[in-house]
Amino acid sequence: QKSIYILGIESSCDDTSAAVICNGVVLSNVVANQEVHAKYGGVVPELASRAHQQNIVPVVQQALKEANIEKHQLHGIAFTRGPGLMGSLLVGTSFAKSLALGLKIPLLDVNHMQAHILAHFIKEEDSRIPPFPFICLTISGGHTQIVKVNNHFDMEILGETIDDAVGEAFDKSAKILGLPYPGGPLIDKYAQLGNPKAFKFTKPKVGDLDFSFSGLKTAILYFIQKQEKEQPNFIKENLYDICASIQYTIIEILMDKLKNAVKQTQITHIAIAGGVSANSEIRKRLKMAEQHWGWTSYIPKFEYTTDNAAMIAITGYLNFLNNTYADVSVTAQARLKV
Ligand code: KG4
Ligand code: ZN
Repeated sequence: QKSIYILGIESSCDDTSAAVICNGVVLSNVVANQEVHAKYGGVVPELASRAHQQNIVPVVQQALKEANIEKHQLHGIAFTRGPGLMGSLLVGTSFAKSLALGLKIPLLDVNHMQAHILAHFIKEEDSRIPPFPFICLTISGGHTQIVKVNNHFDMEILGETIDDAVGEAFDKSAKILGLPYPGGPLIDKYAQLGNPKAFKFTKPKVGDLDFSFSGLKTAILYFIQKQEKEQPNFIKENLYDICASIQYTIIEILMDKLKNAVKQTQITHIAIAGGVSANSEIRKRLKMAEQHWGWTSYIPKFEYTTDNAAMIAITGYLNFLNNTYADVSVTAQARLKV
């Protein structure tokens, strides 16, 4: 079999990433995190675009170096077309176009949300590849969706958030607690030391397979403000229990909806994807669902949960095999459906 090398480039938000894949196997996956946003408590779009511009060339060079190949060996350039921040997407899009033109090889446009899901098709020694159709709970900083994946390129959204994404629920809760951005991983860490039943937050009532997280955020804010007024060191003294209780509520909401999706579709092959799928509790609960409910669960490796270019490269590779190339006139799209 011929070796097909695809370079993937991801620049949709605040991570600049480049990866090389050979026949579905990851040879390199370099991610440059942007530190500049932490002190602002969230991603500042202008600063993100500038940092991408600074990082993109060294990150691509590093990815080629780690993969131990030269750029003229590449067969295609995959890039994130959207969804994401326009200024950030433009950097990756323009760079990918120029490189593909210069090397005279196909340009492969990738939908970031599809790529989170298709990361499950990266070939690893111990990888479990989901059979079609399967259900994927895609949970990130910008999206929360239950997707029915019919094949690599045919995906149906069965439900999604009507307001905040689940990653935002984590990050905004963390902000209320005075934790730095992104707060999701910290809540996860502290939650492991606390009691998930210490405080009770009501779950939102939202139809069918849709989600809502803005009410929960407000409930947490009011609860914290009230407690702090009565007991000035409330957050400090109860941080672990607060984090565990918030995380427990969020994960309960996600699991309830997944159970509904299984009931509706009768599909029991369940995957998770996106940054929040790094969360230790959702990973644990999905594993438990195998024993308790007979599901087969697909949990991505940590490095393929948060934004990375390996997922862009695998999606580009699948496009390449399908002869689906992008035209050089392709434009970045801040909003793009799966
Ligand atoms: O997929 P991603 O890297 O970027 C987007 O496409 O949005 O997701 C980032 C989100 C952030 O909200 C971050 O707080 C959250 O994923 N996240 C976590 C964990 N690790 C990352 N949330 C909860 N627990 C974690 N361990
Ligand atoms: Zn993402």
